[in-house]
Parts: sequence; C-alpha cells; structure tokens
Amino acid sequence: MANTILVGAQWGDEGKGKIIDVLTEEADVVVRTQGGNNAGHTVFVKKQKYVLHLIPSGILRRNKRCVIGNGVVIDPISLVEEIEGLRKLGVKVDGNLFVSETAHVVLPYHRELDAQREVLKGKDRIGTTKRGIGPAYGDKAARVGLRMIDLIQPERFSAQLRTRIRENNEVLKAFGARPLSFEKVNRAYLEAGRYLKRFVTNTVVLLHEALLRGEDILFEGAQGTFLDIDHGTYPFVTSSNTTAGGACTGSGVPPHRMDRVVGVMKAYTTRVGEGPLPTEDAEIGDMLHAMGREFGATTGRPRRCGWFDSVATRHAAMVNGIDEIAVTNIDGLDALETIKVCVAYRDGRKQYDYMPNDIELLSRCRPVYAEFPGWKTPTHKAKRWKDLPPKCRAYLKAIAELSCARLFIASVGPGREQTIFV
Ligand code: GDP
Ligand code: IMO
Ligand code: MG
Repeated sequence: MANTILVGAQWGDEGKGKIIDVLTEEADVVVRTQGGNNAGHTVFVKKQKYVLHLIPSGILRRNKRCVIGNGVVIDPISLVEEIEGLRKLGVKVDGNLFVSETAHVVLPYHRELDAQREVLKGKDRIGTTKRGIGPAYGDKAARVGLRMIDLIQPERFSAQLRTRIRENNEVLKAFGARPLSFEKVNRAYLEAGRYLKRFVTNTVVLLHEALLRGEDILFEGAQGTFLDIDHGTYPFVTSSNTTAGGACTGSGVPPHRMDRVVGVMKAYTTRVGEGPLPTEDAEIGDMLHAMGREFGATTGRPRRCGWFDSVATRHAAMVNGIDEIAVTNIDGLDALETIKVCVAYRDGRKQYDYMPNDIELLSRCRPVYAEFPGWKTPTHKAKRWKDLPPKCRAYLKAIAELSCARLFIASVGPGREQTIFV
C-alpha cells in the first residue's frame, strides 16, 4: 500500500475512522500522530459500532500493530477505559498497541483550565471538547509537561506532579475554581501508569524497524485541516498540526518516507464547535439531523452542516499535498432535488478563490454556489462505481476536480462493504 498519510480535509468528522478501517486491510502498522481524546472516530464492523478516541482505528483488524505516537496528548485514565471497553467487545489490544514514551500526558488541571477558559471567553468561546487538549499542548510548548515516560516511573512522576499541581492550583483559584488534591490525582494516575506500562515503548525505533522490513505504515489523522493550529480558522482550532506535516513530527518518520496523502471529505460540510463555516445552511442541516445524522461522536453535540465547500477542500489539497480523496456520506444527499457546491467566496464586490487568513473577513464571506441536479435515488447499496446514478457520479467528479485531487474512494454508508474504489 505504501506509507500513507490520511488527513481530514474539512473541519473534522469527515469519516476518517471508516476510511482508516478500510485501508488498514493493506497496512502493517497504523499510527496516530496528533490530537488526543478530543477525536472520535466511528467504525462499524458487522453492525457493531466502535468509537475510537485515542487508539488507532486499525485496532479493529486482527494482528495490525497500532501506535500512539509522540505527537499525541494522552489522558491515561481515558486510555485505560478505552482499552477495557475494546476488550469487553472482544478486540485484542495486548501485543497490538504501542504507546510512545514521549507522548505528553493530559492532567486534570488541563481539563479544568480548558473548561474555565471557555467560560471566561463567553460568547467568544471556541466550543472545545473540554478534554484539556489546548492546555496540555500549551504545557508541552512551555516545557512544563509530563510525559508517558514519567508516568510509568512513580517517584519521578509524583515529584513533578506535586510541583505542577501547586502551580496550577494557584491559577485555578484565580478562576474561582476548586483546587485539585495532589494525593487523589497522584493515586489515580499512578494506577493508570501501572496499567499502561506494558504498552509504553520507543515508538520511533519501532516504526523505523518496520520501515527497514519494508512494512507499510498508515498515519491516521485526527481532526481536520481547518482545525489545524497553523492552517485552520485560528483561534477556532484545536492545538495540534492536523495537516500532513503533523504525521512526520508526531511519529518521527521523515517526510521522504511518506509515499502519498489521502484526504477524507464528506460530500457536504460539517463542523462542531464555534468559528466560521462559510457554507453553513439550515436546509441541509435540518434534513441531516432529521435523518438522525451528524451528532458528534465525542460530545454528542449536533454538528453544524453546510454545502460542500470546494474553496476549503482545494486549500486542504494544497497544504496537505493531497493526491487522492475519499468522499464519504454520499448517501446523505440522496433525497435532494438540487445540490449546491461553493466555488468561491464573496465579500462585497471582492471574490476569493482561496481561504482568507483574516478570520473577520472569512466570517463576512458569502459563498458563491454552483448547482448540481440531485440523483434522488438511494445509493447505500451501490458496490461499484457504475452502480452509482450518473448524476451522483457527475457530482463526485466535479467536487474532485474542484478540489484538485483524484477521486479514490466513494463511501455510501458507514459499513466496510459500503465502500467503492474508483
Ligand atoms: P471521523 O472523526 O473523521 O472518524 O468521523 P466520525 O466518526 O466522527 O463521523 C463520521 C460519521 O459518519 C460516523 O458516524 C460514521 O459512521 C459515518 N460515516 C462514515 N462514512 C459514511 C458514509 O459513507 N455514509 C454514512 N451514512 N455514514 C458514514
Ligand atoms: P475527529 O478526529 C471535530 C473541535 C472542537 C472545537 C475545536 C477545539 O473526530 O475529527 P479541542 O477540544 O480540540 O480544544 O477543541 O476543535 N474538534 C473537533 N471537531 N472532530 C474532531 O475530531 C475534533 N476535535 C476537536 O469541537 O471546535
Ligand atoms: Mg469524529
């Protein structure tokens, strides 16, 4: 399969989990390289639903090694819960999961600060998942983070935690929040550390040994291009590099070992949380929500919905170097008479065919639409490209062309078998 980076080309929740699960069949190793348990990747295997937060979606295939790379921030309590949850569903985790020694740990003060900052921001809030992601990456950059290698060495961990809690309690008090008990946090985290110790290893060496053996690695992106800390709609973003470069820094695999980049995108657009979404539209949102679709996999919040935005996906193709695209949720558009696609933005008399960096300008921008006739036929049973209605194929070809990438996969349902290789 070659070493493949898979990224979200929109605002997250593009269906990456499903596509990863499909592509894992051909891979030897699957690696998460950024983000934390803010991610929620849904995979259906034989009607059983799995939602993965930290563990790569590749875990659902037998004997695939799954790595949580150095670029990820790990809430150890939540990782233990996720492993136990998978075990209960009969998924083999032991021997297949490897966790980087240098991945940073999310601590309770990160979660608390995440929540407090959102309250303080009021109407300007980001709408975070409140998983402590921003403060954890903040501590990493400020060089005051604790890492998995610390967590599995109790004495070292406790000493560092004591100092960190003392400092963070002062900040929490300033917010009017309850300070944390060192003893309580220490006890819970050491227990999680003892549990996780057997998974923690030098994942950079592990990945390079896999490369030397000629194995194929699949890099599982979390979030999406426009939630990237550098390339997204800042400040309404997450705190990691969700774009293709993050796969290198977050794993220790160098750029010249990457063979291709696959961008996953929905046949329309969704976003959960605040911030600009130029093609947001109640018509399509109400329709999808009435179908029971587009509720967040991590927080259960209804996702904001809009038409396909090719200005955004073209930008995503550019910053990620996307060669091929996987378009998901095509079946969500089956009932529509007419389907709109944004081809440019307009602010007053000025037209943009790229995404402006100025967030205020972007918020003012109105989409310029092209219209496509709907196919008004169910697509969820299609197995091959030629099974899709001609109008649906024309739509998919058009959005691929507008996104400047080659159509690779068309997905017509959440199941593995609802995947068309184009
Ligand atoms: P991720 O975060 O990118 O992995 O995406 P999520 O799992 O958060 O959200 C995508 C949702 O779309 C999940 O509920 C998937 O089961 C579902 N899904 C993925 N592809 C398809 C598809 O082609 N059709 C339908 N109906 N659902 C899909
Ligand atoms: P997956 O991997 C969609 C959004 C949050 C919020 C912003 C910042 O499932 O696609 P954070 O908690 O990261 O500080 O929140 O980013 N967000 C996601 N939206 N899918 C995700 O992950 C997301 N992870 C974070 O809603 O707007
Ligand atoms: Mg998701």
